[in-house]
Amino acid sequence: MKQADEDFYSMFYIEFFKKFNSYNELPDSWRKDKEILANFIFEHIKNKQKVLSVGSGNGFIENELSKKWGKELVAIEPSKTSSKWLKKNEKIKLINGYFPDCLHSTDKFDFAYMSYIDYVFDDNMYVNMLKDIKEYPINDFLLIGASVYTPNFKESIKYLIKNLLSFIGLYNQQRWGYQRTVMEHLAIFKKAGYKNIEYGKLENGTYWIRAKNE
Ligand SMILES: C[S@@+](CC[C@H](N)C(=O)[O-])C[C@H]1O[C@@H](n2cnc3c(N)ncnc32)[C@H](O)[C@@H]1O
Repeated sequence: MKQADEDFYSMFYIEFFKKFNSYNELPDSWRKDKEILANFIFEHIKNKQKVLSVGSGNGFIENELSKKWGKELVAIEPSKTSSKWLKKNEKIKLINGYFPDCLHSTDKFDFAYMSYIDYVFDDNMYVNMLKDIKEYPINDFLLIGASVYTPNFKESIKYLIKNLLSFIGLYNQQRWGYQRTVMEHLAIFKKAGYKNIEYGKLENGTYWIRAKNE
């Protein structure tokens, strides 16, 4: 199965920007979900001075934050196409590239977050990314929109059948990424060296994990 990669995202965003011309045109339900995330992030950063967003995508969340939070927000995003709207927002410093290579070690942040990204990482990439964040150092980190797998019988059967069909070439699918149980996520955070870890679920079912360097 093919993993969603950089080429995939570039293609995806080209189609995306053909369909939508501004944040306001995005479907209401999508916006409402992301607003819940933005409000939750806001609660964490309201007393912080400098915050980093890793993998900002189209930047909806960052744009929302910039409306009610006036401190320094730096957004990193490897795909240039995806940032078409965000780059017009002068309150946000946008950097094209990958964390941590695209930053200068003199840039200090008192908080960082990543939203809807873990699903693109295999276990190794996930641990390494968290280690990079911990060692940067970023002492307060929030992963939001964690892709969580809650196994149940019906899902396991569906998964098995999909895998069998793809094995004989009848089910040709773009693999969207990795799903993990909450315990698997926590084990990866521990492997990266975090000891102070909390997690929870928002009103729309979105999972978050917060880890502090201590
Ligand atoms: C599904 S989007 C999520 C975008 C946004 N954070 C949100 O919540 O809407 C995932 C994004 O992660 C970015 N990404 C993938 N791998 C990355 C990495 N190693 N470092 C930073 N961003 C990455 C992709 O370019 C893509 O824009």
